[in-house]
Amino acid sequence: MTTVLEAQNLTKTYMLGQVPVKALRGADFVVEQGEFVTILGPSGSGKSTLLNLIGALDRPTSGSLLIEGIDVSELSDNELAEARTKVGFVFQFFNLIPRLNAIGNVELPLVIAGVPKKERQERAREVLISVGLGDRIHHKSSELSGGERQRVAVARALVSNPSFLLMDEPTGNLDSVTAASLIDLIVELNEEKKVTCIMVTHDLEMAKRTKRTLRMKDGHLVADEVNGQ
Ligand SMILES: Nc1ncnc2c1ncn2[C@@H]1O[C@H](COP(=O)(O)OP(=O)(O)OP(=O)(O)O)[C@@H](O)[C@H]1O
Ligand SMILES: [Mg+2]
Repeated sequence: MTTVLEAQNLTKTYMLGQVPVKALRGADFVVEQGEFVTILGPSGSGKSTLLNLIGALDRPTSGSLLIEGIDVSELSDNELAEARTKVGFVFQFFNLIPRLNAIGNVELPLVIAGVPKKERQERAREVLISVGLGDRIHHKSSELSGGERQRVAVARALVSNPSFLLMDEPTGNLDSVTAASLIDLIVELNEEKKVTCIMVTHDLEMAKRTKRTLRMKDGHLVADEVNGQ
C-alpha cells in the first residue's frame, strides 16, 4: 500500500500579536492511497488549520508532515508551491471563473502548468464526462446550477491527476438533495477510480458515507474511527 500522508506530533501555533494560539496540539495519523477520510469537529477545533498543512498551504510549527514521503516542514516557499500541485482542492464556494465555460475552468490548471492546448482540452473534456457533465461542457459557469458548479470544481481538481482530493465543506453551499448527489459522485470516484479523498464537513450524514472519520476537539485528534458502511 502507498502512504499518501503521514503526520507525526504535528502542531501549529499562531501568534496573535504576543499571544500564542495553539490551533493544533500534536496530531498523529497516516492516510493510505485509496482512503476516504472525513475530518469532523466543532468550530475552532483546528480542522482548517490541519487542512492548510495537508494542502501544503502552510508549514507546521513542530512535528513532521510527509506528503508522498516529502516533509513539508523543511520546504522553501517554492518547494511548498511545488508540493501543492499534488493536491486537488475543492472549496465550499466553488471558486469558478463565471465568464469561462465549464471546459475553460477545468483547463485552467493545465494552462498554468503549460500543457499544450489540444491535450488540455482532451483531458478537461474527459474529466467533465467522468463527473457527469458531458452535456454541460460549453455552458458558462454562471449558467450552471450549484450542484453542477461543484462538479466542475471537482473536475478542475482532478484534471492534474493529484495525489489526493482535499475538500473543505464541499456540500456546505448545496441543498440536501444536491449535496447527497455530489457525495454519490465523490464516493464513486473513490471506489471506482481509487481517488484518495480527505473531506472536512459538519454534516454527520455525509461523514457516514465515507470510510473513516478523524474527530478533532480543541486542537487534538480525539478519535480515528472506521465507519460502518
Ligand atoms: N491565522 C490565525 N491566527 C491566529 N489564530 C488563528 C488563525 N487561524 C485560526 N486561528 C485559531 O485557531 C483555532 C483553530 O481554528 P480553525 O480555523 O483551524 O478551526 P476550524 O475547526 O476550521 O473551525 P470552523 O469549523 O469554524 O471552520 C481557532 O481558535 C482560531 O481562532
Ligand atoms: Mg474551518
